[in-house]
Amino acid sequence: MKTAIIKSIVTLFLAVAMLMPMLATASGGAHLLTAPIDINDKESLRRGAKAFGDYCYSCHAASFMRFNRIAKDLEMSEEDVREMLIHTYNKKGAPTKIGDLMEVSMTDDYAINAFGTAVPDLSLAARARGADWIYTYLRSFYVDPYRPTGFNNTVFPDVGMPHVLWSLQGLQEAKYKTVMHGDVEVEELDGFEQIQAGKLTSTEYDVFLGDLTNFMVYVAEPVQVERRSMGWKVLLFLIVLFGFAYALKKEYWKDVH
Ligand code: HEC
Repeated sequence: MKTAIIKSIVTLFLAVAMLMPMLATASGGAHLLTAPIDINDKESLRRGAKAFGDYCYSCHAASFMRFNRIAKDLEMSEEDVREMLIHTYNKKGAPTKIGDLMEVSMTDDYAINAFGTAVPDLSLAARARGADWIYTYLRSFYVDPYRPTGFNNTVFPDVGMPHVLWSLQGLQEAKYKTVMHGDVEVEELDGFEQIQAGKLTSTEYDVFLGDLTNFMVYVAEPVQVERRSMGWKVLLFLIVLFGFAYALKKEYWKDVH
């Protein structure tokens, strides 16, 4: 009896200890939206791959990833991947091959000249920043005439990246309100106001960003897709193995009783 109680206390303690890092990250990132991530939704991942190819891959590499891995994991033909993502020439100026890494030809010097900073590789962005951060970031560009690109961002102030999705999202302005923190007046973000419509409605834009973020989560840890299907196979194997083991046990013990 006593050991049972001690055991449950230890289990509870371990569970709380395991949840601690989660709680820490949850409280750290204030005002982030929740990205609708479903790594098993291959349709969404394929749409995200297309969005990445259309809008991001001209600047950002994802150089831990190979094209043929995307083809395999997302169940796409090599032709589809080629059409969606593959630039005609690779970084070295040779024709791109399906087994190549997702690199870009833009050099850091060029980027620093154009954007004031190098363009980060997005291979691990979803792990470094978190899916919610990326999703919120891509929704939070607003018109700011004082910035060289004409845009600023509420989760990444003075960002060097232009708002490459503005034609889809439309244009928005950031609204601020004054709140009192004790005796101090503080300007706080009070949402956005749409000043020009984009090609997508706000709901469609959210779906678009959800797919794109989903794809980036996949790119940051592609084994997730494999691991989940592997998990089911292992469980199935164990069930079958149990069946055999049980039959064998019966066979061994049948004369003993
Ligand atoms: C015109 C070039 C360009 C395009 C196209 C572009 N970006 Fe960027 N992006 C940048 C630059 C430059 C930065 C660095 C900003 C800075 O450090 O101020 C950046 C930063 C980022 C970051 C932050 C990375 C980090 O952890 O600091 C993310 C996430 C990102 N981009 C995602 C995207 C996505 C998703 C797309 C496609 C919808 C995209 N970008 C398209 C130039 C680009």
